[in-house]
Amino acid sequence: MLYYKTNSKCNLSIYQKMIEKVPSQDLDSLRQLIADRITAAGGHVSFSDYMQWALYEPLLGYYDRGNTLFGEAGDFVTAPELGTLFARALARGIAPLLLQTEARIIELGAGSGGLAKSLTSELDALGVPLNSYSILEPSGTLQERQKAILHQDARVQWLQVLPDNFSGVVIANEVLDAMPVKLACLKDGKWHERRVISDGGHFAFRDFPATAEFLNQVRESVPEDLAYAGLPEGYVTEIHPFALGFIRTLSSMMRRGKTVAIFVDYGFPAYEYYLPERLQGTLMCHYRHQVHDDPFFKLGFQDITSHVNFTSLARVAEKQGLDILFYASQASFLMASGILSLLPSSGGMGRDSIALVREAEKLLSPHEMGELFKVIILGHDVEPSQELLQSDRSGRL
Ligand SMILES: C[S@@+](CC[C@H](N)C(=O)[O-])C[C@H]1O[C@@H](n2cnc3c(N)ncnc32)[C@H](O)[C@@H]1O
Repeated sequence: MLYYKTNSKCNLSIYQKMIEKVPSQDLDSLRQLIADRITAAGGHVSFSDYMQWALYEPLLGYYDRGNTLFGEAGDFVTAPELGTLFARALARGIAPLLLQTEARIIELGAGSGGLAKSLTSELDALGVPLNSYSILEPSGTLQERQKAILHQDARVQWLQVLPDNFSGVVIANEVLDAMPVKLACLKDGKWHERRVISDGGHFAFRDFPATAEFLNQVRESVPEDLAYAGLPEGYVTEIHPFALGFIRTLSSMMRRGKTVAIFVDYGFPAYEYYLPERLQGTLMCHYRHQVHDDPFFKLGFQDITSHVNFTSLARVAEKQGLDILFYASQASFLMASGILSLLPSSGGMGRDSIALVREAEKLLSPHEMGELFKVIILGHDVEPSQELLQSDRSGRL
């Protein structure tokens, strides 16, 4: 079964039996490096440090070591990897926004480069002007992969950092969920930080009383009334200072021009995210289309991810002077963008048409990606289209 990231988790012992062995020396170099850093830091580090190293350590981390990440042979499937339908609908959704700007796109975390390829060709087919397509990708290995399929398009370039000035559209599909998170847990009615310790290279969690800085980060994510009255003892969850810091940096670029940023990701508004029943948070690991919750397993060979808290993201963006132009499910966004007009009319459907309808089902169905995945559009000095306005549910944030 192809796996896109949802909530279901499999039994770890079954999972352990079914995966093949990873060469131990590969595991050992990253493990040793992280163990040494933990020792140098005084015996414990925040989970966000561990996650950053596990995913992005040059040549050793999951996203940089050349693993097959996407598709059947990889660990999970993202919407642009299903086919071209997502990109073709997205092109229609962003066209009215792009036309209000200098017609430039920045894609964050472009993965295989598949979205960039399909989106540029669809915008060309629609006759929508596009002056440049820049990619900000932290993984050198993924950058090489992207260059292999995009090098012939002179508009495409790679950035090391966000530019100071920009007028255009920023796109990020499943990028925020890949940013490092910190872990918080409630003990004796007080927030603690769940940090990572190393015992001879075997990693484990240990809880420490929250520092003032950590408490501020919790306050930025968890609604005050839930934090102390509504959540049960032993509750564990994630907070997202890294993603929120990224939104601040992005906002300072966006405030200087006519700009829009579109984030597509799985997640919830804060009151759904921090439901008292969600006792163990949303941290998940992906390996070969199986899902579990042990971030110390298969270090460097499995993805580690958590859901996005769209409320705190929106509040930070607003504080930074951006407007929330749109928030709704992926299904609502794609419908407002005209995805249905791309599907074959019923009757006498050939093989290609059936494949297209199946792809649409995966993108739109509430049981697949349609409801769990959300789209938020932040903007500065740009008006949303009527179609987007009609489907906007930003009041739910
Ligand atoms: C789950 S993959 C999604 C890839 C692609 N967008 C897709 O939908 O197939 C996460 C991507 O985000 C990138 N990423 C992680 N942190 C990032 C950051 N701070 N800025 C830009 N990209 C980032 C990763 O390197 C990777 O390309």
